[in-house]
Amino acid sequence: MLWQIMSISLSWTTHAILFQIFHMEKKIFLKGMQKYPLIVAVITQVFVLFFLRNLFVMTNTAITLWSFVFCQGLLSALLCQFVFKLPKWFIVISLLLPLFFSAAWTYLHISAGIYGIIFIILALTFSHTLKERVPLYLSNNTTHDSLKKIIAEQKAKKVLDLGSGLGGVVRALAAENVISHGVESAPMLWLVSSAQSLITRSGFIYRKNIWQTNLNDYDVIYAFLSPAIMEKLFLKVEEEMKPGSVFISNSFAVPSVKASEVRILDDGRKTQLYIYRR
Ligand SMILES: C[S@@+](CC[C@H](N)C(=O)[O-])C[C@H]1O[C@@H](n2cnc3c(N)ncnc32)[C@H](O)[C@@H]1O
Repeated sequence: MLWQIMSISLSWTTHAILFQIFHMEKKIFLKGMQKYPLIVAVITQVFVLFFLRNLFVMTNTAITLWSFVFCQGLLSALLCQFVFKLPKWFIVISLLLPLFFSAAWTYLHISAGIYGIIFIILALTFSHTLKERVPLYLSNNTTHDSLKKIIAEQKAKKVLDLGSGLGGVVRALAAENVISHGVESAPMLWLVSSAQSLITRSGFIYRKNIWQTNLNDYDVIYAFLSPAIMEKLFLKVEEEMKPGSVFISNSFAVPSVKASEVRILDDGRKTQLYIYRR
């Protein structure tokens, strides 16, 4: 019964979506899809699951779980690649997602409540990965040292880490006798990092969105985000950062803007710091 209700609702939703798609310009459609690739990949899996399940039921085809999982992964990967034109690594995600999901379902026997709790923790931690394609990766100690050098050269008094993650940069720079702030909007990361800042009395993390943060008060602003938002972010930097201040982007250059300086760090991944002086 539940399957039937869900199938009917999904088939109506599919009709509505297809109607929208065919009345939309291809370019706009693809741009929309590529803006939220993870959400598109997950929704694709759900649609493919219902499509295949109904197909096999209607055609009376007996199929083993693992063959189903293979078909599910393959069809989702093909749709993500050739219809929605998502980046190549979504082929791997599309193939592995149903495999891991079915393996966990079959072998781990974890209660639904635990899955729910894990899901909530992950959602509170990685909300930006879905919305803005900014995953959580952290700056290393070599980067902290290089940033300390730059703030000393700049004689900076106030510094900001845009999207401060677990707050490592904020605390490291606070040790240099500057006012060190971070903004972080993922609730779990904000909670953990602001508690650490409070306990160690080093820096302050605001629970705020980057786009609602005023940049005009800072001498040095650091960001380690994603190529997907650099162009938009730099417009904000140009509009709000004061003359003489410095914007530093770890790893991701601003497209079509020449950096004032690029520092290549002596760490394993040869981190590149793109420095834009205002
Ligand atoms: C790659 S991590 C960098 C963490 C930290 N700055 C570091 O270098 O160690 C990017 C962080 O930015 C946060 N973030 C992404 N978009 C954001 C937004 N619009 N507002 C606030 N934080 C954001 C993410 O939640 C994530 O913690």
